[in-house]
Amino acid sequence: MATAHKRAGRVSDIADFHVLQISNAARALAQQGHDVIRMEIGEPDFSTPKPVIAAAEAALRDTPLGYTCALGIPELREAISRFYATRFGVDVPASRVVVTSGSSAALLLVCAMLFCRDDEVLVSDPSYPCNRQFIRTMEARAVGVPVGPESHYQLTAELIEQHWNERTRAALLTTPSNPTGALIPQDALERMAAVVRARKGALIVDEIYQGLVYDGAASTALSVTDDAFVINSFSKYFNMTGWRLGWMVVPDGAQKDIEKLAQNLFICPPTLAQKAALACFETETLEILEYRKSQFRARRDLLVPALRELGFRIPVVPGGGFYIYADSSELATDSQAFCADMLARTHVAFTPGIDFGTYRAREHVRFAYAAPFHKLEEAVERIELALRTAVPC
Ligand SMILES: Cc1ncc(COP(=O)(O)O)c(C=O)c1O
Repeated sequence: MATAHKRAGRVSDIADFHVLQISNAARALAQQGHDVIRMEIGEPDFSTPKPVIAAAEAALRDTPLGYTCALGIPELREAISRFYATRFGVDVPASRVVVTSGSSAALLLVCAMLFCRDDEVLVSDPSYPCNRQFIRTMEARAVGVPVGPESHYQLTAELIEQHWNERTRAALLTTPSNPTGALIPQDALERMAAVVRARKGALIVDEIYQGLVYDGAASTALSVTDDAFVINSFSKYFNMTGWRLGWMVVPDGAQKDIEKLAQNLFICPPTLAQKAALACFETETLEILEYRKSQFRARRDLLVPALRELGFRIPVVPGGGFYIYADSSELATDSQAFCADMLARTHVAFTPGIDFGTYRAREHVRFAYAAPFHKLEEAVERIELALRTAVPC
């Protein structure tokens, strides 16, 4: 029986995650015994590195797993601070590091701290859908700015200037991006930081795919500004999605408000995950992760030319993350129907563009290459076969 409770308006404003339809259908096919290749899911297929598991086992045996400080255990905040120094040569004091329950909690905390009803926040269209929903949960509005290959699917200083109005409070960037894998060059980031600062707005930079950059060295917005909220996570590069651990670096002066919100909303991030994550920065773990990164790179280098060969347009080679945002307009008129049709006929699951915004969404699909190399080769073969006998969508 349906409940009679009155629902808050914000719930109906939050869009469904369309990929779940594809995911549920993929799971159902797998349960029926079909060999389904899952390229719709934004989750590394690697297990948590062994040293991290060992640290968790030791913590389970040896330490009481009570609540921790709301901002995270000091050792982990220090380790993250040292990671910025050694990997990026940037000085980020541990006092600015806030450990959170996944980067999702970090994004929620920032939105709770900064936004009121009807405030506007600039985001790129396409972009990761949940970030828009965190904004909406605060009854503020994510304003999607259409971006395409000409700006490498990212906002620019000019676009921010053009779309900023008296209600705009912030710009939220993601680099490398989900769904496009596109990066923001440091000089562009610096210009955007200046434009936002001049308008007394906030810059939020989601760097959750930072560890997975394939061409050239990874970087951080913290090298060009200490005024931004920079979000990161143990989910992707560190292969710890289910541990629900992330972090953010906040500008000096924001710690007190973030701490107050974190105490009230979450008490603390998961204690076991925090103890385990201390092992993430050990040489042994980083070697495992760098090897896995090289496997992600090889998968990208397999898929980009193979998908182009099939008729997908990929104007910008994704520089990071594990996604390819492909223009499917030569192959189908409606990418949602195309994804459903391909899943039914090939048992390969990938995501329709409508999950990431509205701009040319029905002409795009997202492939996640979080599956073994041989499975990706097979996915390409299956799609090729199906396209040869295609019924246009
Ligand atoms: C761009 C982006 N930001 C944030 C998240 C949230 O990740 P988590 O809460 O696991 O850190 C995701 C997850 O896919 C993502 O793609």
